[in-house]
Amino acid sequence: MNQDEMKQAVARAALDYIRPKLERDSVIGIGTGSTANYFIDALGEIRAEVEATVASSEASAARLRDNGLPVYDLNSVDRVSFYIDGADESNASLQLIKGGGGALTREKIVAAVADEFICICDQSKLVHTLGDFPLPVEVIPMARSHVARALVKLGGDPVYREGFTTDNGNIILDVYNFPVAAPLEIERKINDIVGVVTNGLFAHRPADVLLLGRPDGVETLKAQ
Ligand code: A5P
Repeated sequence: MNQDEMKQAVARAALDYIRPKLERDSVIGIGTGSTANYFIDALGEIRAEVEATVASSEASAARLRDNGLPVYDLNSVDRVSFYIDGADESNASLQLIKGGGGALTREKIVAAVADEFICICDQSKLVHTLGDFPLPVEVIPMARSHVARALVKLGGDPVYREGFTTDNGNIILDVYNFPVAAPLEIERKINDIVGVVTNGLFAHRPADVLLLGRPDGVETLKAQ
């Protein structure tokens, strides 16, 4: 399998994983990105069994609707049963870097609400130490320079993502050259900077299950 086929395989594996657990009142949280898109398309094939979804981005909401799936506002549901999303990196503890597509804040909110977070990735995303992938930080626009200076003090090289506005009307700083040896501590420290909405480290709320695409099939990993 090539990388694209691995993404499709994990999307289908996620569907197989949740389908037997679906109940009449299940709400499915949907991530953002190319792997999540494959999951949305697969979910569309069983739309009659899907009561409700909530989306982590406007793009995913539009794709869900295109597939004939019902999309709800998060505030109008009592709970989210599953959250299915890709990632930019995962370590063995299933702590993640997310936000390559800029949807990190809504992704983190839906993941926080979900009973079970199922991450779907091809094998290139599994790393020993998080941080080869530049860490996205969503920032209130007027705080851009202040937050950038604070990120430099933490040891990173923040770069403004040119021409990009998040679904929440904010900007993204991508932090380069920033190996994350202590994800729990770094997630909190960055979120403590005034003007930061949130950062793309998912350490306090890691995935519960990682479905990892390998050339010869899908491996199921739980946090170590
Ligand atoms: C979106 O903001 C990200 O968090 C995505 O989940 C992440 O970038 C993975 O995307 P792909 O599935 O396209 O690799």
